[in-house]
Amino acid sequence: MQLWSQVMPVIRFVREGKDVECYPGENLREVALREGIELYGLKGKLGNCGGCGQCITCFVEVEGADPLALTPCTAVEEQKLRRRPSSWRLACQALVQRSLVVLTRPQVGLSDREGLLARALAVPLPPGPLAWPEPEPQDEDPEEKPGEIDSTTSDEAGEG
Ligand code: FES
Repeated sequence: MQLWSQVMPVIRFVREGKDVECYPGENLREVALREGIELYGLKGKLGNCGGCGQCITCFVEVEGADPLALTPCTAVEEQKLRRRPSSWRLACQALVQRSLVVLTRPQVGLSDREGLLARALAVPLPPGPLAWPEPEPQDEDPEEKPGEIDSTTSDEAGEG
């Protein structure tokens, strides 16, 4: 898997007017909370399940046509979202794979909702950085030679 060459996804939060980068595979709820995005309505603020898929308060509406933007619906979502629009997801159950446009708290009114959505979809999502950050090179201990066994550690391991 060539993870290092992937483009980082960008989540466009329509209600908040904010674009947020994340790593591929990050949990949508965790990214939103980290970025200070208000994910919950009143019920969720008073008490949510912490991301277990049980409280059904972390609704988001996913806009756009990329079916691979998020991981497929989980069994929990299939059950809990039966009576909701097909574009709704539970943020805590979704992992971000590609850039997408999201409306948080779709059950809460938003003035000029259609206009905001149209404008959010009209502006192409930025690709974000072209690669994950390179890991820092590790300094090798010049005293330690490959294949050399530390006798002190071996003796200690035999005790007790
Ligand atoms: S946080 Fe409870 S269902 Fe998502």
